[in-house]
Amino acid sequence: MTKEYKRTLITTALPYANGPVHIGHLAGVYVPADIYARFLRLNDRPVTLVGGSDEHGVPITIRARREGITPQDVVDRYHKLIKDSFEELGISFDVYSRTTSEEHRRTATEFFQRLYDNNVFIKRTSKQPYDEGAHRFVTDRDIVGECPVCHAPGAYGDQCEKCGSSLNSTELINPHCAETGNVPVYKDTEHWYLPLDRYQEALEKWILEGHKEWKTNVYGQCKSWLDLGLQPRAVTRDLDWGIPVPVEGGEGKVLYVWFDAPIGYISNTKELLPDTWEKWWKDPETRIINFIGKDNIVFHCIVFPAMLMAYGDNFQLPDNVPANEFLNLEGDKISTSRNWAVWLHEYLSDFPGKQDVLRYVLTANAPETKDNDFTWADFQQRNNSELVAILGNFVNRAMVLTHKYFEGKVPAAGELTDVDREVYAEIEKTARVMTDNLENFHFRDALREAMNIARLGNKYLQETEPWKVAKTDMARVATILNTALQICGSIAVAFEPFTPFMSEHLCKMLNLKELKWNMLGSRDIVPAGTELGKPELLFEKIEDAAVEAQINKLKEARRQNAINSWKPAPQAKDVDFDTFMKADLRVGTVLECERVPKADKLLRFLIDDGLEKRTIVSGIAKFYDPAELVGKQLCFIANLPPRKLKGVVSQGMILSAEDRDGRLVVIAPSGPVAPGAQVK
Ligand code: MF3
Ligand code: ZN
Repeated sequence: MTKEYKRTLITTALPYANGPVHIGHLAGVYVPADIYARFLRLNDRPVTLVGGSDEHGVPITIRARREGITPQDVVDRYHKLIKDSFEELGISFDVYSRTTSEEHRRTATEFFQRLYDNNVFIKRTSKQPYDEGAHRFVTDRDIVGECPVCHAPGAYGDQCEKCGSSLNSTELINPHCAETGNVPVYKDTEHWYLPLDRYQEALEKWILEGHKEWKTNVYGQCKSWLDLGLQPRAVTRDLDWGIPVPVEGGEGKVLYVWFDAPIGYISNTKELLPDTWEKWWKDPETRIINFIGKDNIVFHCIVFPAMLMAYGDNFQLPDNVPANEFLNLEGDKISTSRNWAVWLHEYLSDFPGKQDVLRYVLTANAPETKDNDFTWADFQQRNNSELVAILGNFVNRAMVLTHKYFEGKVPAAGELTDVDREVYAEIEKTARVMTDNLENFHFRDALREAMNIARLGNKYLQETEPWKVAKTDMARVATILNTALQICGSIAVAFEPFTPFMSEHLCKMLNLKELKWNMLGSRDIVPAGTELGKPELLFEKIEDAAVEAQINKLKEARRQNAINSWKPAPQAKDVDFDTFMKADLRVGTVLECERVPKADKLLRFLIDDGLEKRTIVSGIAKFYDPAELVGKQLCFIANLPPRKLKGVVSQGMILSAEDRDGRLVVIAPSGPVAPGAQVK
């Protein structure tokens, strides 16, 4: 850090209280912000970590209508779920409030009022889509229809997801409101606009000249916005859920959710520190850091700063906005609507006590510079071969050996040898690299360094072999184990920002009262004479079954999605009657049915076709227990040329219907008929 700031205000994007949070939110925003806050606290640097729920916006109203409850009910439910699960994961918020709080309503109202009074806004009339049946304005996003560009059905009024074209809902072919099916009409309405263009120059100077050190993805996005030229943006909406527009003509209108939400950072700080909040926002000695995902960059780097400039009164702009890219899940984009996610509250109940494993994996694999993928196989592997096999194993060896040779009391070190001095020097070097990484938001790299301390510990024990030395030289063993325990102490410090539960547990075993970052690499973290606690395992192996259960959950989500998006195939081209009549379709009775060895899809049937017994092989093994088919009648094509499948010659094909999820169901006559009866 070039400058020592007096204090750091860390904000985290306020999640919409419209659903639970998932691993994508965690990896992008909350885990890194928490790491940073904990790191600063370990350095005795004053920090406030601010969070809260974003409780306004159209989707919340749609969800409420769908469930027949009020928007307040929706946000009450999810605010609590989100807040509790963050807490359980150890995200160390100093405040986690919400944008339906009184404080926020007051603060956001006053903010708007002041900009209004200072004639910052411009007022404009525009035509907006209106749902006459439901008596309300809707947004372009809420209207669907045929894309005018690629003619895909179901394009949104603001964008076609098929071809990517940006649209206006007026351009759609056959537009209708997604929720009600009504055809929108267009009505004049007045709104207040923030003239971003007036701040263009100031923003260019502040970002493009002043913040070249920002992450390239953030800087690049800002630059392309600025290069396009900023336009006025509406900051009010025709909606009945939100903060009422407090000025004349504002009846029936609310502040746009993206106008009020970032003000939530201020309101929540006020709620926490009613008397001193101002120095956290207005003193140039405060450093403000916004943790966000990449989809929030323009609001945090352009719109909110412009709002703060317009407000004046010394409000400080963020010093850095270390936005992350996205985390994918098992190769696919995380999607709330498709239930393709690992939800935090579900993880916490499926893996009780394993908060650190998730924190560790999300950091080790954080999407800091590019989109990354979370897989359950990687989760298991990092737990078993890193946390258990490297970290847990080293600490356990040091603890067990000390109990064995010194009754659990930290022995005093004698004179250090080169190996000992080297290991300390290595940790000191690691500490410097880690500090540098953490200060620059390179949390993945910092974590890798932390893990290297445990690797170093294992290597140290391997080289010094105290269990052998114990036969000849207990004084040397004392020095070795003292050193090993100091390494454990360094691990407790180095990992605290990342895996705080493990650190706390380790502190208990080492009888350490308080951790400070500058203890890292020290030779006296655990003083000689300290009584150690019982050796306990810091991490436990994650078995295949636990991971398989998660993968099955995802498979089920995939199946549901296939069902939900299923449509019957379009009708095939006409075939002439004579061609159709050439196919000889018949009914047969199943005499035998069994699985084909080494072919998990195939069943072998022996069919009584009225003339003889014929063998047919069919790919429906996944959907039937062979025994249940014996004695049943079914339909088959009799006159196909014989075909060899996995060594069995099949004389025909059994007819089945493919259901929405790909399940095959055999076609059978609705009543008994003679075997060999033709299907006509
Ligand atoms: N709710 C927004 C989202 O999830 C983030 C709001 S951040 C704030 O994308 F700054 F506006 F609060
Ligand atoms: Zn299109």
